[in-house]
This record gives sequence, C-alpha cells and structure tokens, in this order.
Amino acid sequence: MRRGSIASLLGLGIVVGGIAAAVALALPWLPKPASNEANRIQFLFWFVVVICIAIFALVGAVMAYSIIHFRADPDDDSDGPSIHGHTGLEILRVNVTAQQFAWSFSYPDSKGLTSGTLRLPRGRSVELILHSKDVIHSFWVSEFSQKQDTVPGLTTKVHITPSRLGTFPVICTELCGLGHSVMRTVAIVMTPAAFNKWVAGQTKAITSPNSGVAGAAVFKNNQCGACHTLTAAGTAAEVGPDLDKLPAYAQQAGKPLPDFARQSIVDPNAYIQPGFPKNVMPQTFGTSLSKQQLDALVQYLISSSKRG
Ligand code: CUA
Repeated sequence: MRRGSIASLLGLGIVVGGIAAAVALALPWLPKPASNEANRIQFLFWFVVVICIAIFALVGAVMAYSIIHFRADPDDDSDGPSIHGHTGLEILRVNVTAQQFAWSFSYPDSKGLTSGTLRLPRGRSVELILHSKDVIHSFWVSEFSQKQDTVPGLTTKVHITPSRLGTFPVICTELCGLGHSVMRTVAIVMTPAAFNKWVAGQTKAITSPNSGVAGAAVFKNNQCGACHTLTAAGTAAEVGPDLDKLPAYAQQAGKPLPDFARQSIVDPNAYIQPGFPKNVMPQTFGTSLSKQQLDALVQYLISSSKRG
C-alpha cells in the first residue's frame, strides 16, 4: 500500500474514532454512581466501550476508504472483472445416506453413481447433504473437524473443502443399534484428475453389459467387503457370513443358490446363518439398488463363490 493511502486511512480512522468518541462522551448514558458496585460496573462499561470504539474506527476507516477510493467513475458503464468459473468457489454436491449400519454416497451430477466410500477431489468445495433412512446417526471425519447428525425426516448439511490427499475414517458417532460400531467407511481425497477418472470408470462399470464387471462394482461401491469375506473381491472381513461359502449356506437354508443370494441381499433377516447376529446387515438394498445392479450383484456372488 502506498504511503499516501496509509495516511488517508489513518486520517479516516481518526475522524471515525473521533465521531464515535464524541457520541459516547457527550451524552449522559449512565446515571451518577451511588454505590461502590456501580463505580466498578460503570468502569467495566466504559472499558468495553473504548475497545469497541477502536475496532469501530478501524472497520469504519477501511469501509470509508474503500467506498471513496474504489468507486466507479460516474460515466463508467463497463462491467466489473469476471469471477465466473472460479473452481475454488464451485460447490460439488454429494448425497450422504445413513442407515443401520452403513453409509452410502451418491453423486447427483453423475446419475446412478453410488459409492460406499466417500471420494472427493482435493481443493473443491463440497456440500454433503445428509439423510437418514431409519434412526439418528452422526457423520464424523476426524481430519475434517466437523460432525453432523443425520436425522430421519430432516436434511442436514456439512460444507467441506478437502485440502490434503489421503484416506480418512468415516465414523458413526451416534449409538444407533447393534451394528453401530461397524458403521464405518472411509473418505478418500484424490487429485481432481484422479477423481474425474474414478467417476468416468465407475459410470462405465455400472452400465457395463458384462454383469461380472458391473457386479464387482456394486459389491465394491456398497462396501460389502467391509463386513464379508469374498476371495474374488479380495476382502477378508468377518462381521457377516463368509460369501465364499454361499453355496453351502444356501444348502443349509434349503433354497436354490440364486434365490438365496437375492433374498439375503433384499431381506437379510429372512434367514440368518447360525452364529451371526440379526439386524446388522442393512435392510434397504432392495430399494437402494436398481434391478440391474441387484441382478449383476447376485450373478457376481454366484460365480465368485462357486469359483472360490
Ligand atoms: Cu449409525 Cu451409530
């Protein structure tokens, strides 16, 4: 800033501060004190007023300076500088759905793209729009420093601009039932180029006529591997039944394999494999997956488990 500008800012500050001080001192705001306490209380009052006048003078001076210095000439009809297309200000929306006991993330800009992990490009503002399908859950990513409840019947929001590449745990922090402690996934912050590549690849996989490719994408996107072992998908979790043993489970349940696989996804409580708890597997895949996705997933599980 030039020396002349600093001098005029300072001058304006003194003028603004002077006016505020005159208003404060000239009028009889407070009565004459008649107790020890009143003296101390009035001292505190004036102490705060002086601080306020100083801050007011600073803000008023900058405002007055900006209004005078940066005003357009009376005959200047030209447009101001364009700030359209500022990627830092553009907001990406992601719908976050919480349900007992899983998170899912859908990207309305890329129709049909739903993922069990939250993938975000670095440096871009994102608005997470949170919904719950059943009870109150709470979305928390420690590294993002923000926590927000998901409440049935309400829409809540969190605004995040990821600044660091990495994989961060997404944790449910509201006791929401038997599977509360397994209601976890990850937020993956990627470079914008890698993010765009992921979106393109996912969109292609979802619409692939090859049901194996589509089924594997559905399995991965819905975080089935967070709870289930499936060798073909490279997962080894033990919260839910081992999907490599699906044909044996179907036999125990006395059902043909395709019907059993479909029922276990759509209506998981219909048959619970002995040794595993009820009500842990989300009961909403029947509505959250499209018919094609469900068919692809069933096909994928049948072919993978028979191989495994
Ligand atoms: Cu959802 Cu705890």
